[in-house]
Amino acid sequence: MKVCIVGASGKLGQYMVQHCLDRGYEVVGVCREQSVQKLVRFADKITVIPGATNDREVIRKAVDGCDGVLTVLAPWGIQQYSSGTAQAVMDYAPSNARLIFSCGWHITKDGKDVYSWRFKTFVKLFGSIARLIRMVELDDQVEACNRIFKSSTRWTVVRGSNLEEGESQGLPIWRRHVGDPALKSDLTRRIDFALFMVAALENDELIHEAPAIVGCQSPSALQYEKKSTAA
Ligand SMILES: NC(=O)c1ccc[n+]([C@@H]2O[C@H](COP(=O)([O-])OP(=O)(O)OC[C@H]3O[C@@H](n4cnc5c(N)ncnc54)[C@H](OP(=O)(O)O)[C@@H]3O)[C@@H](O)[C@H]2O)c1
Repeated sequence: MKVCIVGASGKLGQYMVQHCLDRGYEVVGVCREQSVQKLVRFADKITVIPGATNDREVIRKAVDGCDGVLTVLAPWGIQQYSSGTAQAVMDYAPSNARLIFSCGWHITKDGKDVYSWRFKTFVKLFGSIARLIRMVELDDQVEACNRIFKSSTRWTVVRGSNLEEGESQGLPIWRRHVGDPALKSDLTRRIDFALFMVAALENDELIHEAPAIVGCQSPSALQYEKKSTAA
């Protein structure tokens, strides 16, 4: 399988590169010119295409002939970075390719997610401050996802909880809606977020889903699994 990783040099991206190599996939990574050195340990194992991920020509070249595209939707800058990236991937990836995008729980596909007041306050505050300092554009990540949800491509939008570093605990569990008690712990290892993204490439049940994930060893995941086993 040939896989393109858009945003390969970030923390999530590097974990995805490793998972793909572990599975024997051929990997093409896209990252900003100034970040190429972050991928130096993979230098002889992957093809790196430097450039802004919302540069349509860069993406056109990178996704050529790929069976899957893993895209880190980064809400950076104020120039439609996320939506430009997502649009280019959807426009240029082969029509049968699996497209997997990353984002956070704040994205909602059908408005049926239930958020705590703490979460809503955090997103509101973070969004306002970010807009003020013009570094981050959360609204554009929302726009990117809305375009993906309307697309007829074979997409999955993986919605990450809060993240932590650490060794893998295994494939996270997922639910359709934030607010499900199984997600209550709101914590996933970043390495396992990457694992879920890569595993989704070969899981057709996730096509046109926006799974909200949580670590499989987190207390709420364990509690839920116990309950469903006992039932
Ligand atoms: N952090 C969290 O707690 C959290 C929680 C839930 C979901 N998520 C989601 O997880 C994904 C990865 O997030 P992460 O926090 O783990 O970060 P990350 O993996 O380090 O990714 C950040 C990405 O943003 C790029 N980037 C950084 N500064 C940039 C700039 N000024 N202009 C353009 N691109 C820039 C990085 O590229 P370079 O390598 O070139 O810098 C990298 O590809 C995102 O989709 C995010 O929405 C994160």
